[in-house]
Amino acid sequence: MNFETIRWENGKVIIIDQTKLPEKFIERTCQTVEELHDAIKVLAVRGAPLLGVTAAFGLYLGIQNCNQKKGEAFIGEIERVAAYIKTSRPTAVNLFWALERMVACARSNVQKTVPEIKEILFHEAELIKREDSELCRSIGKHGEPLIEEGDVVLTHCNAGALATAGIGTALAPLYIAHEKGKRFKVYADETRPLLQGSRLTAWELNRSGIDVTVICDNMAASLMRKGIIKKVIVGADRIAANGDAANKIGTYSVAVLAKYHTISFYIAAPYSTVDASCPSGEQIPIEERNGEELKKIGERKIAPDDITVYNPAFDVTPQTLITAFVTERGVLYPPFDQALKK
Ligand code: MRU
Repeated sequence: MNFETIRWENGKVIIIDQTKLPEKFIERTCQTVEELHDAIKVLAVRGAPLLGVTAAFGLYLGIQNCNQKKGEAFIGEIERVAAYIKTSRPTAVNLFWALERMVACARSNVQKTVPEIKEILFHEAELIKREDSELCRSIGKHGEPLIEEGDVVLTHCNAGALATAGIGTALAPLYIAHEKGKRFKVYADETRPLLQGSRLTAWELNRSGIDVTVICDNMAASLMRKGIIKKVIVGADRIAANGDAANKIGTYSVAVLAKYHTISFYIAAPYSTVDASCPSGEQIPIEERNGEELKKIGERKIAPDDITVYNPAFDVTPQTLITAFVTERGVLYPPFDQALKK
């Protein structure tokens, strides 16, 4: 990939403003943790693994100028900033996972001086970013054999490079297959209401030279019925211990369709997306977003001003509809509760 979704520069976090793609490729600078919180909320930076990396840098951003002198008081401040970042978006567990990792890292160094703890936290954030990139490549390598010459793959939302610090999760097997010279075709669901499929997945696959076609979400059934789609691969925001998986709203309907048409349905994700504390999808918190997102396309109103809107950002696909998980450690088949535990 010749873009970097996030970087630290001169005391600031720089991200690609994903709300502007594909029209404009511009960066957005977060100088304060409040600005970073806002960037997460409006989806300028998004995608579960990238939210984890962003949260880690956000934590460092929030404490870099803290002038507490004592370790314990400093840890209290770190926990306060972490709790604040946790209020940005509820579903992607990677955000919580990264913050908890940062806090634990600070705690285990509490005997050190505050400047030393700050330095350690900066390196931990850099490490989380580097690891994310490596995890993506491993997911890609394990998933690549699933992509056959001449394949036709459907994906939903964006679980690509833009959603990670590497080559993505769901799109990683496609990038590796492309590197190996395999020919295949991708259909990208546009992904209403915020169009991550048509704006982001189509943008990044197209610029990588991968054959991609955008469809409206409601066209997938028809393509499956015609026998065009051979497999589905998507990402996840949180995977429960039993294998139920939350992902962008509309994923569940794609999974139901895939089952009906006997098409394999794969979920690609790293270990940081698994939430062992959630026994099933029932316990996964689902973000509900502002209804205004459904009432306009650009500046054009597409619903009456005073209409009631329901806008959940994610849904849960029950594990019974999932063929396999593509992870950095290999492809996991049912029974998922046991495979995920290992
Ligand atoms: O609301 P978003 O754009 O953050 O939702 C993103 C998704 O649903 C992705 O599929 C998921 O985070 C996996 S990204 C590798």
